[in-house]
Amino acid sequence: MAFIMLTISINAQTTALSSNSTNDYIPSAENLKAREAFANDKLGIFIHWGLYSMFAQGEWYMQNRAIPHEEYSKAARAFYPIHFNADDWVDAIKDSGAGYICLTSRHHEGFSLWDTKESDYNIMNTPFKRDIIKELADACHKQNVRLHLYYSHLDWGREDYPMGRTGHGCKDSTKADWPHYYKFMNNQLTELLTNYGSIGAIWFDGWWDHDQDSIPFDWQLPQQYALIHRLQPACLIGNNHHMEINPGEDIQIFERDLPGENTAGFVDRAANVSTSAPLETCQTMNGMWGYRIVDQNYKSVKELIHLLVKTSGKGANLLLNIGPQPSGELPATALDRLKGMGAWMREFGETIKGTTAGDIKEQNWGATTRKGNTLYVHILNRDSIEGNTLPLPLRQKAKSVKEYKGAKLKFKSTKDGVQITLGTKRDDIIDYIIEIEQ
Ligand code: GLC
Repeated sequence: MAFIMLTISINAQTTALSSNSTNDYIPSAENLKAREAFANDKLGIFIHWGLYSMFAQGEWYMQNRAIPHEEYSKAARAFYPIHFNADDWVDAIKDSGAGYICLTSRHHEGFSLWDTKESDYNIMNTPFKRDIIKELADACHKQNVRLHLYYSHLDWGREDYPMGRTGHGCKDSTKADWPHYYKFMNNQLTELLTNYGSIGAIWFDGWWDHDQDSIPFDWQLPQQYALIHRLQPACLIGNNHHMEINPGEDIQIFERDLPGENTAGFVDRAANVSTSAPLETCQTMNGMWGYRIVDQNYKSVKELIHLLVKTSGKGANLLLNIGPQPSGELPATALDRLKGMGAWMREFGETIKGTTAGDIKEQNWGATTRKGNTLYVHILNRDSIEGNTLPLPLRQKAKSVKEYKGAKLKFKSTKDGVQITLGTKRDDIIDYIIEIEQ
């Protein structure tokens, strides 16, 4: 798959993002290769883990209760996730069919999960004293799973971070020092991209903290992006700013929405979907990102597979979140869902992995994916098809039509496609897949 950088129209917001820079980012050959591998994966697992896991109230607890950093940070003195085992995490995640893991290296609370020299507020100053990023990176590299790192642009505890619309009441906001904070971030990013082998992506979050400033806030992203690409040209950059992709970014991120949709209401309008860069949608398995003790509202395996199929039908990856417990374990229900997804992926993953969006856009009955001359028709909701025939528009004539790994189906070519006679309706299947050879 070739990715061509299209010229991106500059609106007011992109100006804020990319001031004092050239807009002519040209991804390197390694980067384009990494994009392709990423787009083929289709499934990744997001891990939200930090001190916030200890409070078991989700990752926004500090800000939601306006807890002063001074008090909140005392939790570090007791962080001891005795059951953390990076190999076990990677085993369970790989088994689900996911190709990569994205871990929160430092979330909005400001605590770093690695041995950083840039701040004392890190894992080595807890009783645990084990570099979590190092252990996870080693396990990932050993098992051929790519490691992505989430990195928060905003910080509720550091006084040098110029306060935006969140984190009020958590710190003294009079001591903001952007150049100092910016340097701190870049030094941390340098550590992450120097000491842990190959990093598949840096996943930024927090841009929106300053989206209501009267004078557009300059995050100096182009220089930061250039630093990352200089250190690791293949490292993909994504930014959860809920907008169109900007120069220097390699993937476009959507939060709790499929590309082009805006049901979560994070944007005034659904952001234009990039036609040149891979897409990724992040979503929770239950309701929250960070571990929240009362949140047992897990989606079923069937719902998760449907989500994955619909996401793939849009040509995007699904980054599915798990919030590990303070003990370092992945919650039992999350493990159960990974297992269920893995079982399905082993049987049907070929119709998802390595595919692009199908040419027929999402329908009430389901979605389509494509691999070469094969179009996979995923019927997720058979009840929304009247009768036993499914008419489909096709650009190219169908040579054969059959149930995936199953019986041939009768079909009739029509002037704009094909009319398929569906097989027996079964209520016990998650996704009725039809394979059309063209
Ligand atoms: C939002 C939240 C953050 C979470 C992220 C994941 O930006 O602020 O807590 O990490 O979404 O998509």
